[in-house]
Parts: sequence; structure tokens; C-alpha cells
Amino acid sequence: MDTVALTESQQKQLIETASKALTSAYAPYSQFRVGAAVLTTTGKIFAGCNIENASYGLSMCAERNAIANAIMVEGSDTIKITAIAVVNSQNIPCSPCGACRQVIWEFGQKAQVIFLGSKGWQNSTIGKLLPEGFSL
Ligand code: THU
Repeated sequence: MDTVALTESQQKQLIETASKALTSAYAPYSQFRVGAAVLTTTGKIFAGCNIENASYGLSMCAERNAIANAIMVEGSDTIKITAIAVVNSQNIPCSPCGACRQVIWEFGQKAQVIFLGSKGWQNSTIGKLLPEGFSL
């Protein structure tokens, strides 16, 4: 499957879903609330938010929580990520972290990634953000 060109309405829907998701974030330590929305090849959208912990290293990013929600419904065997959008409460540049990039890669090697970059909203691909992603 090649990278699918998203319609403007799909992009808008992803950003809106991610924006809504960040209102559920649990981020008492960083105060940095993040929401993510995953579009799968079935056309469904799944949301996730970041959930922090007093043991900081246990905190989980919005992107991986959105992917986990998608897997719960679609199953890990068949799920394929078409696109993922990430939004934050401070409206500052924020692309998926390295760990999330590798997890996006696992479930969608052609996935588009929509995020607020240093030059505004960007529509990139996981292949560009994670060259030579690891696969077994
Ligand atoms: N965070 C995300 O959820 N996604 C990102 O793309 C970047 C960072 C979260 C992790 C932590 O809860 C907070 O933002 C500050 O790093």
C-alpha cells in the first residue's frame, strides 16, 4: 500500500479528534497535554492522550495510547495506520518522539504524520521521520 493522499476534510477531522483528545490528558507533572488521532485503512479514527505517572518514566505518550486503542478494536494482525495527527495544549512544535515513531512504523510503514513543526503544520511520512525503521 502506498501513502494515501488525505482529503482536507480527513486532515481536519484528525486534528479535531486529536484536539478533543488532549482535554482528557493526565499531565500534572509537565502540564503539557497532548492528543493524537489515528486513521486506519478501515477509515476509522481512534484517539489517545498522554498519561503521566509520578514515576516519570512510566508516562505514556498520546500517540502510543491512540495506537493501543486502535489495536483493541481492529486487532494487531490486520490494523494498518494510514495517518496519525498530534496536537498539544501549548500550540508549540511537537512531533512524535523517537519511541512513538518506531511504534507508528510497526503498524504503518506508509503512515502520514501530521504535526505542528517549526514552520507550522506539517504533513510528513513516518519513513521521513524515521529513516531505516527497525523491523523483524
Ligand atoms: N508527549 C506526547 O504525548 N507526545 C509527543 O509527541 C511528545 C511528548 C508527552 C509525554 C509527556 O507526558 C509530555 O508530553 C511531556 O514530555
